[in-house]
Amino acid sequence: MTRPATQADGLVWITGASSGIGAALARRLARQGWTVAVSARGEDALKALAAEHPGKIIPVPLDISDADAVAQAVDRIEAEHGPIACAVLNAGIYIPVHAENPDYQAYAKTFAVNLNGTAACVSALTGRMAKRRKGQIAIVSSATGVGGMPTASAYGASKAALINMAECLAIELHRYGVHIQVITPGFVETPAQDDNEFPKPFMISAEEAASRIASGLRSRRFEITFPRRFTLALKAIYALPRAWHIALVRRQTGWSKPPEG
Ligand SMILES: NC(=O)c1ccc[n+]([C@@H]2O[C@H](COP(=O)([O-])OP(=O)(O)OC[C@H]3O[C@@H](n4cnc5c(N)ncnc54)[C@H](OP(=O)(O)O)[C@@H]3O)[C@@H](O)[C@H]2O)c1
Repeated sequence: MTRPATQADGLVWITGASSGIGAALARRLARQGWTVAVSARGEDALKALAAEHPGKIIPVPLDISDADAVAQAVDRIEAEHGPIACAVLNAGIYIPVHAENPDYQAYAKTFAVNLNGTAACVSALTGRMAKRRKGQIAIVSSATGVGGMPTASAYGASKAALINMAECLAIELHRYGVHIQVITPGFVETPAQDDNEFPKPFMISAEEAASRIASGLRSRRFEITFPRRFTLALKAIYALPRAWHIALVRRQTGWSKPPEG
């Protein structure tokens, strides 16, 4: 049987915590009394965040696309601060790809961070958690990972893979007492949305997203999804036969019109 981690089990590690959802979640969990190790590439932003909660937030600068650096960072966190009871693997990038003007590097960069980087974090954690017979890993995917969206063939593919990864881990690690969750947010107002040219229905703040995640982390649920009125409506569309939902998404997003020029 798995269970959510408690503060008595150790600390929380959040990747992608220099801004947006990760930073808001780090602040919220630190206010609740957790010790929180925070990672991202932006060292100055991590230090500024740590200064808001001295001793409770520990900056651990890291590029998750470097798997050796990830393994070393996890070793260092545990050696210096104790076991990682809960990891929120949140680091991610969004690069829109226009298929008529393809850019392989956008795919490569997206997969290197969102997919391979998350795999590096998972690889550094699951063995030690299985040995301890406890632990919690929440992987941040996206509502975009549930089905196709225009310009998301790199981002959406990486996020769909993370949903599958989390499902596989949940199946395998349950008997070792390791609690696996996947987080599928709709639109959240963060720097990641700056490159998104679409309407963003039901967009919520990073603080609201952090509040939903924090309460989801305390639950036994596999999926933490919000805002539910948006993500559940999207899932209903994706439950239709694929040809129908593809046509519907094309129409709703304006991609059924002929290209300009
Ligand atoms: N905003 C939304 O609407 C939305 C919706 C669904 C899912 N999500 C997901 O939520 C997560 C957080 O995104 P956000 O919206 O809060 O955007 P954000 O503010 O841009 O945060 C992304 C974080 O990831 C870090 N990061 C990027 N590349 C990294 C790397 N190679 N190694 C380590 N850290 C890296 C960034 O820090 P550095 O640049 O300093 O490294 C930053 O802290 C992402 O996985 C995103 O896909 C967001």
